[in-house]
Amino acid sequence: MANTFFFFAFLIIFHFSMKLTTILTDQSALLALKHHVIHDPENVLVTNWSVSTPVCDWIGVSCGSKHRRVTALDLTGLGLVGTLPPHLGNLSFLSLLHLTDNSFHGILPVQLSKLRRLKYLGLGNNSLSGEIPSWLGTLIEIRSLSLYQNNFNSSITLSLGYLPKLEMLNLEENQISGSIPFFIFNMSSLQIVNLKSNMLSGSIPSVPRDLLSLERINFGFNNLTGHIPRDMFDHLPNLKGLDLRDNLLSGRIPISLCKCKGLQFLSLSFNQLEGSLPVEIGNLSMLQLFHIGQNNFKGEIPQQIVNLTLLEDFVCAVNNFTGE
Ligand SMILES: *[C@@H]1O[C@H](CO)[C@@H](O)[C@H](O)[C@H]1NC(C)=O
Ligand SMILES: *[C@@H]1O[C@H](CO)[C@@H](O)[C@H](O)[C@H]1NC(C)=O
Ligand SMILES: *[C@@H]1O[C@H](CO)[C@@H](O)[C@H](O)[C@H]1NC(C)=O
Ligand SMILES: *[C@@H]1O[C@H](CO)[C@@H](O)[C@H](O)[C@H]1NC(C)=O
Ligand SMILES: *[C@@H]1O[C@H](CO)[C@@H](O)[C@H](O)[C@H]1NC(C)=O
Ligand SMILES: *[C@@H]1O[C@H](CO)[C@@H](O)[C@H](O)[C@H]1NC(C)=O
Ligand SMILES: *[C@@H]1O[C@H](CO)[C@@H](O)[C@H](O)[C@H]1NC(C)=O
Ligand SMILES: *[C@@H]1O[C@H](CO)[C@@H](O)[C@H](O)[C@H]1NC(C)=O
Ligand SMILES: *[C@@H]1O[C@H](CO)[C@@H](O)[C@H](O)[C@H]1NC(C)=O
Repeated sequence: MANTFFFFAFLIIFHFSMKLTTILTDQSALLALKHHVIHDPENVLVTNWSVSTPVCDWIGVSCGSKHRRVTALDLTGLGLVGTLPPHLGNLSFLSLLHLTDNSFHGILPVQLSKLRRLKYLGLGNNSLSGEIPSWLGTLIEIRSLSLYQNNFNSSITLSLGYLPKLEMLNLEENQISGSIPFFIFNMSSLQIVNLKSNMLSGSIPSVPRDLLSLERINFGFNNLTGHIPRDMFDHLPNLKGLDLRDNLLSGRIPISLCKCKGLQFLSLSFNQLEGSLPVEIGNLSMLQLFHIGQNNFKGEIPQQIVNLTLLEDFVCAVNNFTGE
């Protein structure tokens, strides 16, 4: 009897101290971040992140209602200057990390790979640099990966791997080189892929199977070469936006494009595309913006274009079109 009592007493104390330790772990991880911030223009962390108040009450911090561990850290737009400490990897219940619109610099610490519950990683508009880390490919719960407007400079080939739940990938405005990895179009939950304004070269990978979620592709302002894959659009029935402007693409517009019945925005300007416009363009009845200027298109503009009743913005300047 006494033994049983002590056993349960031990369990309760053990359980309580585990809980305490883990809350303290979260607290020390956040304090490490606070100490790695060298400039806090609105003094938010200095005045609010005080050890005399519970971590879960700190600005930008959210905790789970049951286990009271930190589940979200959102410090968007505070203009913080600093680096990311490895201790952030100890926030083991974190599912959202948003540090968008700050001035964090340095590299992404590899310890962030321990955040196995992470679903949303938003680090856009900072000054982070170095490689797009290959361990991002181990964050298999991730839905949204947003690293736009930083100085990441590696290639993405084989680094991201296969992220089964990824919906949004935004790497716009970095210095990413190399080619677009084929597995970009093997992530079946992808809705938006934005690789605009990098230094990507090589050709556009083909789409091996139906991607029913994919709505927006932006590969504009890179150095992509070769043809637009002829069967690319056989597998993208729900595509709404395609931006390939300012590349070095050649060849014709694939007729399969006209299978994307929901297409609203299409920009192919500033490439070396040629041939005539397919008459099937008239089937893209949702088209609102259609930019094909600065290419080598020739022939007549198909009269089917009058059927595009939603078209507001059509630019075809600097080509070799003839006729009416
Ligand atoms: C920190 O900010 C939160 C949210 O604005 C507020 O509820 C809390 O009282 C603040 N704590 C301190 C110590 O200023
Ligand atoms: C948290 O992470 C840091 C660095 O990764 C480590 O030194 C520390 O021991 C970890 N654990 C706790 C409980 O803070
Ligand atoms: C980037 O973040 C800074 C604050 O660090 C902000 O002033 C600026 O407007 C942001 N830029 C964009 C394009 O949102
Ligand atoms: C990427 O940037 C880092 C510094 O942030 C530099 O050491 C490295 O050489 C750069 N790599 C490439 C391929 O430019
Ligand atoms: C594409 O994704 C499927 C899972 O949906 C996977 O089984 C397959 O190995 C992937 N193929 C490549 C080439 O990555
Ligand atoms: C494209 O390649 C040219 C020649 O190699 C280079 O000068 C230019 O900076 C590149 N542009 C981009 C956006 O990568
Ligand atoms: C596209 O429109 C043409 C006529 O312009 C029509 O003959 C054809 O069946 C349509 N194709 C599809 C896939 O709707
Ligand atoms: C238009 O055609 C003429 C004559 O065939 C050619 O010299 C010129 O380079 C072409 N221009 C463009 C933009 O393709
Ligand atoms: C435009 O659409 C109408 C109705 O769908 C069709 O009868 C007509 O032939 C089309 N015109 C062109 C030029 O494709």
